[in-house]
Amino acid sequence: MPALGYTYDDHLPADFSAQSLRNDVLTGLTAPRKWLPPKWFYDKVGSELFEDITALQEYYPTRTERTILADSATGIVRAGQSRTLIELGSGSSEKTRLLLDAMIAQPAEPAEPHADHPVDPRGKVASYVALDVSEDALRSACAGLVSSYPRLRVGALRADFTHHLELLPKGERRMVAFLGSTIGNFEPAERAAFLRALRGELGDHDQFLLGADLVKSPDVLIPAYDDTGGVTAAFNLNVLDVLNHSLRADFDRSTFEHVVVWDAENEWIEMRLRATQDMVVHLSDLALDVHFDRGEEVRTEISAKFRRDRLIPELETAGFVARGWWTDPREWFSLSLWGTA
Ligand code: SAH
Ligand code: AVI
Repeated sequence: MPALGYTYDDHLPADFSAQSLRNDVLTGLTAPRKWLPPKWFYDKVGSELFEDITALQEYYPTRTERTILADSATGIVRAGQSRTLIELGSGSSEKTRLLLDAMIAQPAEPAEPHADHPVDPRGKVASYVALDVSEDALRSACAGLVSSYPRLRVGALRADFTHHLELLPKGERRMVAFLGSTIGNFEPAERAAFLRALRGELGDHDQFLLGADLVKSPDVLIPAYDDTGGVTAAFNLNVLDVLNHSLRADFDRSTFEHVVVWDAENEWIEMRLRATQDMVVHLSDLALDVHFDRGEEVRTEISAKFRRDRLIPELETAGFVARGWWTDPREWFSLSLWGTA
């Protein structure tokens, strides 16, 4: 057993992260309509700010998904019949505990070793692998799980779920969870590619558990992304600090404001950063000057909201088979379970 109590596997060496960030920033900030991919929000500060967001009164997704899990984790785990949980974009792994509780409470394994569930000499009855880009989030989540769950084998995999799905640990009857509606942060084409790639990695007995936020009134949606305390604004602006630290850029965050728009046609929230004055920002590591006109915006995130009758065909097109659908009484958030055959 490793000294930490969990294994830590890093597939994002500094040069990969740096190269990937440079490519993204160069592409996004030289585009006619500027944009940045949301994965760069999550340095240490950004991951902590996201956790603060999840506790906001206005930000309903986390607590709504948690209530669904509290009511239905046992049913979900029973439907999936898995003892191996792999979570993509795991963050703090807090809600995951409800699934782990249910997994560990499943009836005892057969006494005879079975190919699917070999008896573990250390008394571990289930496995959990957290995959995230954020080392800080991974380490703090996994350390917490190790102390709470002595019967759980815990692994951390620092990787990018848009590039590294082939690194998912192999095994039979795996449940891959993608919670929090992080799927909504993909562009539609990216989402389709992600789902196809994930389906390609899964075998006949594997399952996919998806948390997806549902369409609702903009009166609820907008405040969730524009809270009165300014926490989401700080999360959004933090991406400029990430660029300052990682690419030796000279963004002055006081010259940008947080903007939230509900795009009713695409049914997604857009977060943007709007320049409040004309300026030129220098990114030393890219030898790049970026001009901003006053009022010009950088799109930093989309957060798509879903409808059941559109989500199901998307998953089916990627090759998944519906196994279950759980929601809350107001139908604000959904958890759905998908098989492959
Ligand atoms: N699943 C958690 C956290 C959601 S926040 C929850 O439901 O609360 C989104 C998480 O995805 C963050 O922890 C972030 O670091 C991670 N993430 C974002 N883009 C990623 C990528 N391309 N690959 C892996 N992890 C990513
Ligand atoms: C991680 N993701 C699902 C969050 C969301 O709601 O789209 C990120 C977030 N952005 C602003 N607030 C929260």
